[in-house]
Amino acid sequence: MRIAGVSLFSAFARLPSLIRVSAPVPTPVSGHIKSFCAPVSSRLLHSQSAAMSLPERKPFTPDFFFRQLFDTESSTYSYLLADVGTREAVIIDPVLEQAKRDAQLVKDLGFKLKYAINTHMHADHITGSGWLRQLTGCQSVIAAASGAKADRHIEEGDRIEFGRHAIDTLATPGHTNGCMSYVINEQGCIFTGDTLLIRGCGRTDFQEGSSKSLYENVHAKIFSLPDNYRIYPAHDYKGQLESSVWEEKRYNPRLTKTIDEFIKIMENLNLPYPKKIDASLPANRECGVYDIPKE
Ligand SMILES: [Fe+2]
Repeated sequence: MRIAGVSLFSAFARLPSLIRVSAPVPTPVSGHIKSFCAPVSSRLLHSQSAAMSLPERKPFTPDFFFRQLFDTESSTYSYLLADVGTREAVIIDPVLEQAKRDAQLVKDLGFKLKYAINTHMHADHITGSGWLRQLTGCQSVIAAASGAKADRHIEEGDRIEFGRHAIDTLATPGHTNGCMSYVINEQGCIFTGDTLLIRGCGRTDFQEGSSKSLYENVHAKIFSLPDNYRIYPAHDYKGQLESSVWEEKRYNPRLTKTIDEFIKIMENLNLPYPKKIDASLPANRECGVYDIPKE
């Protein structure tokens, strides 16, 4: 079919380039063609503008292994990371009930688990780091400020190395006073624990929580990272796997507010007392070791 001397195929093929240079989109002549073409051109214009402002994704390097794991009961994400060359691995925020699964995965893949790292002392589940120590011989890691026991205590600026990869540590208290976020600059990603969730954040009404600190730390230390850094939180309750600095800076319904508005929002959440806090905190203070199933 030809429209004013131009084949239909070539008219469509030319649309993206015509839109890119802001030239007028050719107006088809017949009513049928018009109704068919108009949505296509508006869709192209819409997706074109979204694509232009979205930051370019940075791929992981081929020797960086990344596996996101999930615990359905607590909606916790754990992250197994490894150097494919040296086989050294770490796991961030393991869950007690999944320790055997995680140890088996490490074994299956031929990794040597070096560290089980916690972003903070969790109140909603017991850490798997104690049991993983026994199963794999790894060391447990947590912020010194958390007050929890571990083989290695860290503070901001410390580096956690596995193979040739390194995690840089940022102190991001607010949800708890011992919250850390873990950045891998080479891979363009950050593990934010409960400090920053996808379109949300951790509560600040217990464990020495502070809305003011959380807000300031997110803005100063996480939102200051490049827009294309991926964000991997400790939980998600809606099935979202990851976000980015660009997205949360624009769409986080709490952290895009002013600090005063944010504090008010957090004061009025009226959340119930966490179901597992009475069991989790004493166990996590001991690195999760005293509640390991006997088997
Ligand atoms: Fe938490």
